[in-house]
Amino acid sequence: MKIKGNIYYVGVNDRTKPLFEGMWPLPYGVSYNSYLIADEKIALVDTVEVDFFERYLDKIKQVIVDRPIDYLIINHMEPDHSGSINLIRKYYPEITLVGNKRTFDMVAGFYGETGNFLTIDEGDSLSLGCHLLRFYMIPMVHWPETMISFDETENVLFSGDAFGCFGALNGGVLDISMDTEWYWSEMERYYSNIVGKYGSPVQKALQKLQGLDIKVIASTHGPVWTVQIPRVVATYDRLSRYATEAGLVVCYGSMYGNTEQMAEAIAEGASEQGVKKIIMHDVMRVNHSYIIADVFRYNGLAVGAPTYNGALFPEMESLLGKLVCRDIKDHYLGYFGSFSWSGQVVKRITEISERLKFEIVGTPVEMKYGVKPESLELCKALGRALADKILGK
Ligand code: FEO
Repeated sequence: MKIKGNIYYVGVNDRTKPLFEGMWPLPYGVSYNSYLIADEKIALVDTVEVDFFERYLDKIKQVIVDRPIDYLIINHMEPDHSGSINLIRKYYPEITLVGNKRTFDMVAGFYGETGNFLTIDEGDSLSLGCHLLRFYMIPMVHWPETMISFDETENVLFSGDAFGCFGALNGGVLDISMDTEWYWSEMERYYSNIVGKYGSPVQKALQKLQGLDIKVIASTHGPVWTVQIPRVVATYDRLSRYATEAGLVVCYGSMYGNTEQMAEAIAEGASEQGVKKIIMHDVMRVNHSYIIADVFRYNGLAVGAPTYNGALFPEMESLLGKLVCRDIKDHYLGYFGSFSWSGQVVKRITEISERLKFEIVGTPVEMKYGVKPESLELCKALGRALADKILGK
């Protein structure tokens, strides 16, 4: 599959793995993108998950037949892209690995490979004959060794995970040859789940790219972007600034429906006050991957759950832990809980909220035993208070 000039797509689809990074659902699969530049010298840009090596090697050989590969450019060392390094070296023993100092520490650590390295640094270039590749470091997008490679001859940016998304490639590779509409929500889920903690490094990377005349973005996951580059860059810019829309995510755990009714009262209060976008998530039934994506999108969050074994309902503890470690900014938070003999939820969420960078809104509601009208009224009031903040009243 030709991308531009003599740059080829040689990536593979994974439609069998249920969870990316062992955590995040892949209902539509994922692609591991790799590219081959067939110039006087041949360069491979990143590899693929090792389970797919056989079909990967077939694709490479369809392009270059028996020619050797001169360089393997390693933009990112996470094993979904570096996993085939050992086997590539076995089939192409003369290949030179191209990366930065941090890359090779990881290559040695993950794969035991210690030789035939070409160490490059910020702004260095590599000529393949006609093509000139220039390298830029983008640390913590989303690993410390991460870099991008820009083909100055064809204006193609090999961006690693940056600008990637979940979803396998269903036939086409270039955005211009497919209906991309369903990828956008998968891009937001990918960003918020995988890269979400690193908004500031992503912003620095975007600034670094501003001076480049990019015609193609060839990332490691999802479509190769051409005509939709402005939308892709705008999406990553918005998400990495933690910019939001007006809306409320109400996320709850409930064993017998009492805490669920508190959540519904909060939603009612917010609705009465004019919030139109309200999303309810049962923390046990909805995978946290989707909840995190919605939290990134909307500026209001209400969370609540029962006390369980003298502690916060475990699945809510888990969700809040995931939110804390993403450094999400500029959000409003209300919270609530229930208990039968030892109320721990409000106390625990108060502790956690000190590590969340959310503005606390209203008074937390804690309810003993079953639902009572006065508790529901307090929840409605909390919903109204959240609404005022969400809508900027
Ligand atoms: Fe797709 Fe960070 O690896």
